[in-house]
Amino acid sequence: MNPVQLPEHWNQMYSTRQEQELSWFEEAPAISLELLLMPRLDIQAPVLDVGGGSSRLVDALLDRGFIQPAVLDISAAALEKSKKRLASRASRVRWIVADITRWEPDRQYMAWHDRAVFHFLATEEQRAAYRSALERALPPGATAVIGTFALDGPERCSGLPVRRYSPESLAAELGPGFTCTAVRSVDHATPTGKVQHFQFSRFVRE
Ligand SMILES: C[S@@+](CC[C@H](N)C(=O)[O-])C[C@H]1O[C@@H](n2cnc3c(N)ncnc32)[C@H](O)[C@@H]1O
Repeated sequence: MNPVQLPEHWNQMYSTRQEQELSWFEEAPAISLELLLMPRLDIQAPVLDVGGGSSRLVDALLDRGFIQPAVLDISAAALEKSKKRLASRASRVRWIVADITRWEPDRQYMAWHDRAVFHFLATEEQRAAYRSALERALPPGATAVIGTFALDGPERCSGLPVRRYSPESLAAELGPGFTCTAVRSVDHATPTGKVQHFQFSRFVRE
């Protein structure tokens, strides 16, 4: 899909479906939290959920007292859903409408989370742009948690083709500046009862 059509595609997804109808919906982001908070993340630490959509990860971070969560997504409609759900707590979150492959970070984060976004990046150019944003946004010692479809996961999501990764092939994409410190194999049950196999990897920025 042409990059200029992407915001429209995702806005349409979020505007025509209830949260629980989205195949990637999860009530509680347990694995994401486990990997992000491992071994410990100070609640003062700025955390960025890349392609966070209407995910409830930001709710969970606020519940745990995090004071600087940020959510970035190409879809303004997705972020509006989260803002509505969070009501008055939404003002404690930094909301960023942007394409991650064109985004220039204006500050640094101690943790970067991406569940099911990197795997949409089809070209080497897009993946290099993502890597560049990741490298600029994270100082040494910061954490990146990236979940993608596993090698035996689906080949498409929301009508778009995806690339599937093993922990090793994902680590190779990120390069030597990131050390993998933990891996999880996750079966996600979609709201229609299908099982999607994900891999989640936690990296530390060197
Ligand atoms: C499969 S959904 C996952 C949403 C969320 N991470 C979750 O776990 O619920 C993919 C998300 O990535 C966003 N997205 C897709 N391409 C993007 C891009 N190039 N830049 C930023 N966000 C993007 C979509 O709008 C959507 O919210």
